Amino acid sequence: MDRNAILLPQSAIGRQREAIEKLRGLLAQEHTPPLAYVQTYGCQQNVADSQRLMGMLREMGCAFIDEPSRADIVLINTCAIRENAEKRVYGALGQLTHTKANNPRQLICLCGCMAQQESAAEKVKKSYRHVDIVFGPQALWRFPELLLEAAEERHRVFSIADEHGTIAEGLPVLRESGIKAWVSIMYGCNNFCSYCIVPYVRGRERSREPEAILQEVRELAEAGVKEITLLGQNVNSYGKDLTRPMDFSDLLAEIDKIPGDYLVRFMTSHPKDAGEKLFSTMARCGHVAHQLHLPVQSGCSRVLKAMNRGYTRESYLEKVRWARQAMPDLVLTSDIIIGFPGETEAEAMETVSLIEEVRYDALFTFIYSPRPGTPAAKLPDPASRQEKQVWFDRLLASQNRISAEIHQTYVGRRLRVLVDGETGDAEWPLSARTAGGRLVHLRGPKELIGQYAEAEIAGRNTWALFGSCVR
Ligand code: 5AD
Ligand code: SF4
Repeated sequence: MDRNAILLPQSAIGRQREAIEKLRGLLAQEHTPPLAYVQTYGCQQNVADSQRLMGMLREMGCAFIDEPSRADIVLINTCAIRENAEKRVYGALGQLTHTKANNPRQLICLCGCMAQQESAAEKVKKSYRHVDIVFGPQALWRFPELLLEAAEERHRVFSIADEHGTIAEGLPVLRESGIKAWVSIMYGCNNFCSYCIVPYVRGRERSREPEAILQEVRELAEAGVKEITLLGQNVNSYGKDLTRPMDFSDLLAEIDKIPGDYLVRFMTSHPKDAGEKLFSTMARCGHVAHQLHLPVQSGCSRVLKAMNRGYTRESYLEKVRWARQAMPDLVLTSDIIIGFPGETEAEAMETVSLIEEVRYDALFTFIYSPRPGTPAAKLPDPASRQEKQVWFDRLLASQNRISAEIHQTYVGRRLRVLVDGETGDAEWPLSARTAGGRLVHLRGPKELIGQYAEAEIAGRNTWALFGSCVR
């Protein structure tokens, strides 16, 4: 698609700003300040999207509250990646019938990946009539316009047209902290892994202009933000659609030139597009964390082919070797799906053997969940849920042992960590992250929050390290 049609004109953004101004007046008549409740399900991209939506709500004059009953505006940002995520949303929507009954002028908005699915939108239209606005990720930038229409006309608004997707620059954002920030570098996905709903709900891959990304990172670094995570469904295909193509490694190298005391992380990398150039760039760039989330999904080449992943067990393992050669201190994590349709026990055990071979620092593990409309959902799936659970438990047992063993190697070491918050635990009151992104529970003064500190690691469990500030 023509690049000019992807980059939204400033007039379209201007319309949103006008809608925000009108809503500021309109909502103030209901309540001063108007109260908003925002609930986010799913991945980091959704968290970043919610920060945009909250930025818009803040400019409408809203204050944020933690429970929906008193809210003038309720916004549920949904996830569609697995059936469970959807079930939780329907549960939350059911609860909201009561809040709406008590407060009929409440505006209930449903957005995110689930809202973009026609079947879900239809179900909400028919069976959840208290929901006022439904819009998918591709219409996120139009939230002010949609909200204004619902608030003025008092009718239901649905915006889920199946679009290629656009890029909106210049909309507000509400960052959750001054320590860490998310920066989307691209949207959408073109990979169509056979199990995955994302390409159907988030549209085609489109990269933000490098200047816009660099400007955003520069502002964050100048504001003292210490950790910047670049987001995209597959950051390794960054730049393919730009008028002047550049790749993700080039972008990382440009970002690295921005001065400041900060670390850059990124997710997610698709193994088929990650290679030596990326690893050597990461190794060379001082601001880039030696941390890689490289989802393998399966350790069996036959299953990988059925998943449409574009690599084999062997080619994946080779990339891991390259990455570790370039960065011996690399922290490596992955996503795994157990029980893909037709997967046998022996094939699932190939995944267990792969994780034993790679020895990831940590894993995100899932049992396959059929997503209507995806090719995998049409495949025969003879293995029972119980069988899959047994394979899954074996995988977890292996990984838990490996994570604990790797964590044991930190004990006794001194590391630079970023103190990012409080744990609520009196014994280990602070939480922190190592450069590789591992969680540390820390003893030390509260004043360190937002700073780098030197930590001595004294203990560990499977999921975290425990230590004390020494400086
Ligand atoms: N079932 C189970 N897990 C899935 N994922 C994506 N789609 C599905 C599905 N249908 C997992 C993949 C992906 C992660 C974000 O969610 O492992 O990397
Ligand atoms: Fe889904 Fe595959 Fe795209 Fe990731 S790369 S969002 S798993 S289709």
